[in-house]
Amino acid sequence: MAEFSLAEPGAPGVRPPTRGQRRTAEQTTHVKSRQRVADHGEVFTPPWMVEAMLDLVRAETERIDSRFLEPACGSGNFLVAILRRKLAAVELRYGRSEFERRHYALLALMCIYGIELLPDNIAECRANVLEVLAGYLGVDEGSETWRAASHVLAVNLVHGDALTMRTHEGEPITFAEWGYVGKGRFRRRDFRLDMLAMSSSFSMEGSLFAQAGKHELFNPTRTYPPATQAELAEKADAMDLGERE
Ligand SMILES: C[S@@+](CC[C@H](N)C(=O)[O-])C[C@H]1O[C@@H](n2cnc3c(N)ncnc32)[C@H](O)[C@@H]1O
Repeated sequence: MAEFSLAEPGAPGVRPPTRGQRRTAEQTTHVKSRQRVADHGEVFTPPWMVEAMLDLVRAETERIDSRFLEPACGSGNFLVAILRRKLAAVELRYGRSEFERRHYALLALMCIYGIELLPDNIAECRANVLEVLAGYLGVDEGSETWRAASHVLAVNLVHGDALTMRTHEGEPITFAEWGYVGKGRFRRRDFRLDMLAMSSSFSMEGSLFAQAGKHELFNPTRTYPPATQAELAEKADAMDLGERE
C-alpha cells in the first residue's frame, strides 16, 4: 500500500510562519517578480494558508467526486492540496484493490478544474498536479496512466481568461463533467462555462433566465462515448501530434 497521508495542520509546511520567517517566505516563494504582481496580481498562497482555507470545507475536499474550480489557479497551490486530500480518501476506500485505486485516483483528478492566464503558470500547474497523482500511483512518465492523466489535465486545466471566460485562443471555455461508470470506463460531457455561470441568474426572481427551462442552459456542448484509461491515453498521444479533439 502506498505511503500517502493527508496533510494535517501543524505538519511541516502547513504551519503559519513566525514573524521572523514571514518576510523571507513571502519574498522568496510567493512572488515571481514585482512586475507580475503589478500586471497580474500574481502572489501565490503559502501551504499553511491553503490548508487552513481548505479546512473550512474539509468534508468536500475529502470527497473523491466533489468538483473544485480554481479560476486563477497559478501553479496549482490549491489544486495540488485538494488532490492530495482526495487521494487520501481514495487510499482509505480503495487502497486494497489496485484496479479500483487507479481508477478512483483518476476520477479524483477529473474533478479538479483550473483557469490560468499565464502560459508558464498553467504549464507548471499541470506538471505539479500530475506529479502528485504519479507519485501516489507510482507510475512513470510515458506510462498509460500518466498519459491518460495528461489528457485529463489538458482538458480540465485551461489556459485562458476567467473574466472573459475564453481560452487564450479566444474560444468559449468549456469544462468536462467526467464520471466513472465502472469496469474501467469514464464518461464525459462538456458544458460551456458561461452557461454554467448563468445558473445563479437563473435562480434569481425576475431575471432574464427565470423563465428559461433549466435544460436549455445545461445542454452539454458535446457528449463522448465511455472511454477506458487506454483510450484516454491515446487521446493524449493524438494531442501531442497536434490533432484537436
Ligand atoms: C493571486 S495569484 C493566485 C494563484 C493561486 N491561486 C494561489 O493561490 O497560489 C493570481 C493568479 O491569477 C492569474 N490571473 C490573473 N488574472 C486572471 C484572469 N483574468 N484569468 C485567469 N487567471 C488570471 C495570475 O496569472 C496569477 O497566477
